[in-house]
Amino acid sequence: MRWVLPSLLLCLAIPALGASKPQRLGSWLRGQLPTFAENQTQSPFFNERSSGDGVSHELYFWFFPSTNPVAQQNKEILIYLTGGPGCSSIGELLQSNGPISWQPGTLQAIPNKWSWHRLTNVVWVDQPVGTGFSQGTPTAVNQQDVARDFLGFWTNFVETFALQGYAVYVTGSSYAGMYAPFISSAMLDRKNKTYFNVSGMAIWDGLYSKVALTQDVLVASNVNKWSSILPFNDSFSAFIKTIDAKCGYTAYLDEFLVFPPKGVQPSALPGQNPLTNLPLPGCALYLSVVSAVLELNPCFSAFDITLHCPVLFDPIGFAGGHLTLPPAFPVPVFDFPEVKAALHAPANATWVFCQNPAIRPVFVNGTDQSLNAGPGSQAVLPGVIERTGNVILGHGSRDFLVLPEATLLTIQNLTWNGRLGFQQRPAAPLVLPAHGGGASAGVAAVAAGAGVVGSTHAERGLTCGFESTEPFTVDVGGGGAQPAGDLGNGTVVVGG
Ligand SMILES: *[C@@H]1O[C@H](CO)[C@@H](O)[C@H](O)[C@H]1NC(C)=O
Ligand SMILES: *[C@@H]1O[C@H](CO)[C@@H](O)[C@H](O)[C@H]1NC(C)=O
Ligand SMILES: *[C@@H]1O[C@H](CO)[C@@H](O)[C@H](O)[C@H]1NC(C)=O
Ligand SMILES: *[C@@H]1O[C@H](CO)[C@@H](O)[C@H](O)[C@H]1NC(C)=O
Ligand SMILES: *[C@@H]1O[C@H](CO)[C@@H](O)[C@H](O)[C@H]1NC(C)=O
Ligand SMILES: *[C@@H]1O[C@H](CO)[C@@H](O)[C@H](O)[C@H]1NC(C)=O
Ligand SMILES: *[C@@H]1O[C@H](CO)[C@@H](O)[C@H](O)[C@H]1NC(C)=O
Ligand SMILES: *[C@@H]1O[C@H](CO)[C@@H](O)[C@H](O)[C@H]1NC(C)=O
Repeated sequence: MRWVLPSLLLCLAIPALGASKPQRLGSWLRGQLPTFAENQTQSPFFNERSSGDGVSHELYFWFFPSTNPVAQQNKEILIYLTGGPGCSSIGELLQSNGPISWQPGTLQAIPNKWSWHRLTNVVWVDQPVGTGFSQGTPTAVNQQDVARDFLGFWTNFVETFALQGYAVYVTGSSYAGMYAPFISSAMLDRKNKTYFNVSGMAIWDGLYSKVALTQDVLVASNVNKWSSILPFNDSFSAFIKTIDAKCGYTAYLDEFLVFPPKGVQPSALPGQNPLTNLPLPGCALYLSVVSAVLELNPCFSAFDITLHCPVLFDPIGFAGGHLTLPPAFPVPVFDFPEVKAALHAPANATWVFCQNPAIRPVFVNGTDQSLNAGPGSQAVLPGVIERTGNVILGHGSRDFLVLPEATLLTIQNLTWNGRLGFQQRPAAPLVLPAHGGGASAGVAAVAAGAGVVGSTHAERGLTCGFESTEPFTVDVGGGGAQPAGDLGNGTVVVGG
């Protein structure tokens, strides 16, 4: 497979400058998608099923075969899913882990040295129906529907690219904490290793259960943690304490965020109406805090609490929820007609990174019944851990939308391989290797953290990793030399 990213970059950058040469992007894409190489008219879409109303439902993908010969040899493929619900995985390809990186506030795309396709074969999928470039009218009411649609798509995908016998890794972020466990579980249920050999699952900043668990319950403790950048006045600080005590939030943490776990958590969360899953009167603490944060920092982003003004322009029109585009962009880059044509995307689709759920929900009536009824993906997570022995749940520290301790709270409510939760609080250092190049190669080319960046822990087939706000002072000794050279072969060392 020839590596021709620079010509793609040129093409993607050109619309920003007012010219356009989409045919070059097109030829690159065909080069990466062998099945379509000789057939300009065939698009990377798959009919995954037709519903009774005769409307076809199609998911959209962008597949990057790995540049790593080891991945080819190993016959493995990784699926990446963005959350939302209703956010396009193609958007995270550009700003998180794909071959092309076009970050907010920058004038053009650059190659992403840390792209996951340098480790293994990766496909980013716009799903469920209603998301990104997918086609059709959403009919999903719960995660079983989402998984059924995905498995239909996956069967076609495996057949198109002859991926029978490949090990499948299901990964994603945020609301993929719902999608990935249900999809993995449904694949494993098929007992068909030719098509559905799920060998691992990894989720970052996942939402697994009721939203209040990740927001109202955790917000007071997170305000304390971030006091240096959330300098609330005395009266508002007192208000937070009062509401937190009245609604029982931190008390819930004190009771259940313990190691080993005290016991299974109740279905009804404190401060919430169990019928509506909405906060009881006077208990909407997360919303109160976010409104007050906006007074302190009008450019606040729940996606990264450390962001301040100015809000950066963003080629995908997201900008941490502020939805600002670069000045010359009438629409996000993936909605440019020439980009859509080059990507074999439907010309009549309107691409936005995250669908506005009030305008175009991806679940019928905007409700995912698997989330609202509880216990979310906690119902299927243990089975995925038990059957793969290879699940990672990680969480970044600066997330103020899905607050980080929610992942640990969820883990402490899961029973897998015969026991409830982790028996010990994660304490081992999470070590990221320093990779070659160094500062002399230029910041943009190498920018990536290294060293001890948080904590990690593994028990009975489940591993977690947490970015930390309190830097460890642990010296990773004991021959913990980091691999030299490029990121090439999955050389991330966990735990020194
Ligand atoms: C090209 O795609 C068209 C439409 O899907 C199909 O009918 C045709 O057989 C394809 N040709 C080749 C060479 O694959
Ligand atoms: C399934 O994947 C695993 C790797 O996780 C591999 O060892 C095994 O051989 C695969 N099974 C089949 C039947 O392909
Ligand atoms: C596995 O699934 C594929 C796709 O649905 C199907 O064609 C094949 O017959 C299945 N194999 C077995 C052994 O069930
Ligand atoms: C904890 O797990 C139990 C058993 O699965 C479930 O009934 C309950 O709803 C969960 N609690 C929360 C807060 O998710
Ligand atoms: C304290 O902060 C809150 C929340 O930002 C604000 O509504 C209130 O007016 C402030 N009080 C004073 C006395 O500044
Ligand atoms: C877009 O075009 C396709 C193919 O012509 C058609 O099936 C689909 O319904 C159209 N979608 C919209 C949203 O108009
Ligand atoms: C969606 O809302 C409509 C109108 O209120 C209702 O008739 C329908 O049953 C709802 N569908 C689901 C799946 O909740
Ligand atoms: C990665 O794999 C390639 C090919 O097997 C090898 O040449 C290279 O040295 C490896 N790099 C590292 C950092 O292990």
